[in-house]
Amino acid sequence: MASVPAVSAGLPDPTLLLADAPRVRAALDSAGWSAGALDDLLGVTARTHLDRDELAPVLRRTRDRSPLATLARLFVAGVAVDDTDARAAGVPASWLLADGSAAIRLQPVAHGGVEVTVPHDAGRAAAGVHPEQVLGVGAASLTLAAATPRRTVARVLDLGTGCGIQALLAEDHADVVVATDRNPRAVAFTALAAALAGVDIDARSGDLLEPVAGEQFDLVISNPPFVVSPGARYTYRDSGLDGDEVCRRLVHDLPSALAPGGIAVLLVNWLHIEGEDGDERVRGWFAGNGCDGWVVQRELAAPEDYVTAWLRDTDEGSRFDRLYDEWVDWFEQRRVEAVAFGVLAMRRRTDGSGSVVLEDVVQTVAATWGDEVLDHFARRDALATDLLDICWRLRDDVRLHQVASRDDDGWLVESSVLQQSAGLRWSGGTDDHGAALLAACDGTMPLRTLFALLAAGAGIPESEAVGQGLPVVRRLVEQGFLVP
Ligand SMILES: C[S@@+](CC[C@H](N)C(=O)[O-])C[C@H]1O[C@@H](n2cnc3c(N)ncnc32)[C@H](O)[C@@H]1O
Repeated sequence: MASVPAVSAGLPDPTLLLADAPRVRAALDSAGWSAGALDDLLGVTARTHLDRDELAPVLRRTRDRSPLATLARLFVAGVAVDDTDARAAGVPASWLLADGSAAIRLQPVAHGGVEVTVPHDAGRAAAGVHPEQVLGVGAASLTLAAATPRRTVARVLDLGTGCGIQALLAEDHADVVVATDRNPRAVAFTALAAALAGVDIDARSGDLLEPVAGEQFDLVISNPPFVVSPGARYTYRDSGLDGDEVCRRLVHDLPSALAPGGIAVLLVNWLHIEGEDGDERVRGWFAGNGCDGWVVQRELAAPEDYVTAWLRDTDEGSRFDRLYDEWVDWFEQRRVEAVAFGVLAMRRRTDGSGSVVLEDVVQTVAATWGDEVLDHFARRDALATDLLDICWRLRDDVRLHQVASRDDDGWLVESSVLQQSAGLRWSGGTDDHGAALLAACDGTMPLRTLFALLAAGAGIPESEAVGQGLPVVRRLVEQGFLVP
């Protein structure tokens, strides 16, 4: 059987798989390949087993040699199958290695109602990670996907495309998708992903914005190599630039690739250094870039926790202790007190100005919240005008939760909490006046009129109702409870 020769570093060349991608797509379709079908076949914990190199549970569930079982063994478990089984499942010989295993892995991903199949290099557990390895979809990939606005646009750039997951998802809501990466193997994987999906993605090789010089996009998404580490061990993770410089550089340079009004969403790390204000550090990245910024901080990790998490991610085994000391020493030399992780969004303005909002978001957010990015900037525009003139509307997903205890007269409400079920899922306490005001916000009357009615009902001057209520309304708008 003809097979793909492994390249010298032990990694296959994905370009050799391109020609037979349509045959593999046909094999996947005819076997009923999907995220749901594989969960049913393998069990939802299959990936956890495989990450720990526990093959038995997956092998047991794929004993029937059906085409889907064969494809799961080859592309999910990464084990060899019989020549006859591979042929029966429609897998071309060009996709197989000499030992009957597959050259690469395939990962079905269902996200926000869209299903894609992502090709990537073999897993990391026993083999360790190769510097040029192209990983599959991980937690950070899904964090960015969740924060990406899905409004239909003309042109999208996915910078640092890796296995192509962001580009594939963007293809569903864009006319043109350009995907770039410094690692040529990642570019090849993204081209392969597009061929498997039967879609057009313009995959280009090169450093940061260099492959798209002079071009503009309506949406730029990037899960860059944001990890702050000494040296450049892994291309997918380490930029090779010092500290958090890669993120600073992207925030500074990306606006040139944004069309007016265009949006960029990226994952970033930034440093909190002794004697400096970490929040001001990330705010400072926007200086003079002509964009409004929104920084959604999700984590703040102590150096020791940060290093441990990333060393575990690459299964450093016996090297753990040495690398841990080197990395923590490196943080100490730079007086790093913590590393922040967040989603950073920006919108290019046309007047050269811009402001930055930073929020610490520790609560569980909705599974997809990208449209909140667009709504956030729209609300900021409204907040820059006279709030009293606007007919505000309570967002549809907001609910009022009340806790009451019984007293002699019946139920006595002790607390009232507003809760969003969409977006960033903010919650917060309110009182009777606030609840009544929000209930009246149905988009038909300006806030000025609502305050007048409230003041009349409470027997207080209108100016007092406005003075007390306006700051509260402002905060409710900032968090998205009220929308223009
Ligand atoms: C964290 S991975 C993200 C992969 C994929 N987009 C995702 O969301 O899962 C970062 C990617 O950026 C690429 N990369 C690293 N340095 C780069 C650079 N200077 N310019 C462009 N891409 C780079 C890596 O090769 C890698 O594929």
